[in-house]
Amino acid sequence: MEQLRSRALGEGWRKLVVDGVAVTPVSLRRGPALKVVAGPRTETVPREEWPVRLDALLASARNVHLLAPDGDVHARRTKKGKWLVSRGKASSASPGAAAHDRERQRLLPADHPLFRATKISRDKERQLQHYVELLRALPLWQRDVIRVVDAGCGKAYMSLALVAYGRELGTRVELVGLDTNPQVIETVRGIAEQLGYDEARFEATAIEDYESDGPIDLLVSLHACDTATDEAIAAGVRLGADSIVVAPCCHHELAAQIAGQKDALLRHGLLLGRQADLVTDALRAAALEMLGYRVDVIEFVSAEHTAKNVMLRAQHAPSARRADRAMAEYVELRDRWQVEPSIERLLGDRLPVSQNR
Ligand SMILES: C[S@@+](CC[C@H](N)C(=O)[O-])C[C@H]1O[C@@H](n2cnc3c(N)ncnc32)[C@H](O)[C@@H]1O
Repeated sequence: MEQLRSRALGEGWRKLVVDGVAVTPVSLRRGPALKVVAGPRTETVPREEWPVRLDALLASARNVHLLAPDGDVHARRTKKGKWLVSRGKASSASPGAAAHDRERQRLLPADHPLFRATKISRDKERQLQHYVELLRALPLWQRDVIRVVDAGCGKAYMSLALVAYGRELGTRVELVGLDTNPQVIETVRGIAEQLGYDEARFEATAIEDYESDGPIDLLVSLHACDTATDEAIAAGVRLGADSIVVAPCCHHELAAQIAGQKDALLRHGLLLGRQADLVTDALRAAALEMLGYRVDVIEFVSAEHTAKNVMLRAQHAPSARRADRAMAEYVELRDRWQVEPSIERLLGDRLPVSQNR
């Protein structure tokens, strides 16, 4: 820990995060200084006052991250007061002060090693920054640790970006990625290892079979196939997630169930498919509302990238009025379309309107 303190007193690092307080070296006309951002407050500390200020910050600190081009240092104080210090690869090669303004535009710096390790395209990189932006709105990031489950994680680019963003903020994102495909799990384990993300682990399992050893903070699921999104939502509820964020993929289930009903809206396959998508996602949103979540239905990525661009972003914030309204709407919609959605089967007893109770 003394070594970390000495480094923070010296030069050559780009960011220090102490329990969510972010410090960046800056060059001012009157000389070098440090910009200290604590929640909504920003302050500039002259270099000569930095040692006293640093010691005050460290005195009661629990999590400290120092990000530097030659390697990051992470320190966590245990309940018994012992510091556990680990070193990782540099999360950016940018020198601090010079990149300061440019980096403010993006949540992760353009040269973040995540982009190299995952070999994603510029397009995907923009989607990833946008994704972090959408999840930044969740009221989780002030916590020291966030427990995240990614259901149907694939190569987990987006969740790894949450780990990276957590490191920028000083929040430890403990990620568990789940996927039935063992090859994909092998690949993503390799990527996480290459990045030195020891807070991320991956399991080859079906979403429905996963059990955590305590409540989780966030469940995410991006483009998990067909009813795997329902499994993901049900897992989020079952695991006690405060937030559930899903971007559904292909929907086949309800399209097959309403295919027999012929009218001008349903006669053409393309329109039937779109209608079934809307009904499926509306039922999912209403089910979450019945269970105490506030749900925003938003555009995930621009429609030019993928037609599957709907995102359900849900935050647990119980309201009896909302739950009652959602229950009435859910039953009306389900019965009007005469469908039996998987979300209802999977939530079973938890859902007050379930016919599978
Ligand atoms: C289209 S990919 C999306 C991957 C990743 N979430 C992304 O957005 O890049 C869907 C992934 O979900 C996985 N999957 C589908 N059904 C699943 C289930 N029931 N349990 C776990 N994984 C599942 C597939 O193996 C596949 O890797």
